[in-house]
Amino acid sequence: MMMWLVGAVFKALRVASNLVFFFEAQRLLGCLIKPTSDERVQRVDQKVLEAAGVELRHENVKCAGYKIRTVFCGNPTDPPLVLIHGHSMSSSFWYRNFADLVNMGYYVIGLDLLGWGRSERPFYSGETVEDSVHFYMESFNEWRVNLRLEKFSVIAHSIGAYLAYEFAKRHPGTVTRLMLVTPAAIEQRLSLLTGIYFTLTPQTVARRLGLLGYLLFEMKFPKEEPYTANSLKDLTWQLNCRPTPSGDIAIRHLIEFESWNRPVVKRPFINSLEHLEMPVHVVSADMDTLVSIQSVENLYRALVKTGTECTYNVTIGSNHCPFLEVPDQFREIVGKYFDRKMRAGA
Ligand SMILES: *[C@@H]1O[C@H](CO)[C@@H](O)[C@H](O)[C@H]1NC(C)=O
Repeated sequence: MMMWLVGAVFKALRVASNLVFFFEAQRLLGCLIKPTSDERVQRVDQKVLEAAGVELRHENVKCAGYKIRTVFCGNPTDPPLVLIHGHSMSSSFWYRNFADLVNMGYYVIGLDLLGWGRSERPFYSGETVEDSVHFYMESFNEWRVNLRLEKFSVIAHSIGAYLAYEFAKRHPGTVTRLMLVTPAAIEQRLSLLTGIYFTLTPQTVARRLGLLGYLLFEMKFPKEEPYTANSLKDLTWQLNCRPTPSGDIAIRHLIEFESWNRPVVKRPFINSLEHLEMPVHVVSADMDTLVSIQSVENLYRALVKTGTECTYNVTIGSNHCPFLEVPDQFREIVGKYFDRKMRAGA
């Protein structure tokens, strides 16, 4: 009996050590096949931004000791327009829009939110929804104070739109015009898969799993041209692998599991609306698999009820990122409300 037990224990140890060996070996292989480094992030980011076809200036803006990567484009005497990206993205994901927005008469400023993109990724220790919003919004506010942005327009995407709305609410008089593009976290209800995806923090998975992580990324990453052209896919991978996914972790606290199979948004966008002074433009995408067009419409109707001046447009043939997938349609919609030359003529 004793001998049998010892034998079983040794066998189990051998299996475990083989598994560990396999895991580490494939991780090493992953590092060799898809190496990641800050230098590579920079190179691939440069490639994406070169495709913008317009002159851009980079700067790391210091706020509260953290570096916030910022991209500037256009004439500094024009009114500022701030671009806020969504989950796991960065200011570079607007590369197909910079030139259009400059042509509409704006000084365009894109930032990488704290914890994401090429901005600093400090250790995140918050727990509550308020902590998460605070993490982004405090740094965002310091950033715009440092840049002396007192009045500016905002175009914000997905979870960035959720955060931008919070900012506009808390800092009345700063935002002159707000566009919410396929805003996320609208309603409490959340699909199980989305819940798991955002709870596991995709960046951690990509970073820790090595080759397996890369294969998963390959499987999950969209195959359509807008997402793969001009090194954007490479940039996504490099950004996913940057150490300390604090951006992901902070967002994780917006979601909780009521039961093992029922993830919910803790403070849904639609429950935190109030009357705003500036015009708000809501844009949805007819093929959005992450945020249903119905949810966005519900948000729009709820916004109208607050007495806020607002409009609603649907982009056709686009999934979650219309500014990237159907940039011409996006330009048309934005132009209708933002084009200063057209508006001056009207
Ligand atoms: C956006 O919506 C407005 C109001 O419904 C409409 O007049 C306009 O044509 C739409 N613009 C585009 C580009 O779809």
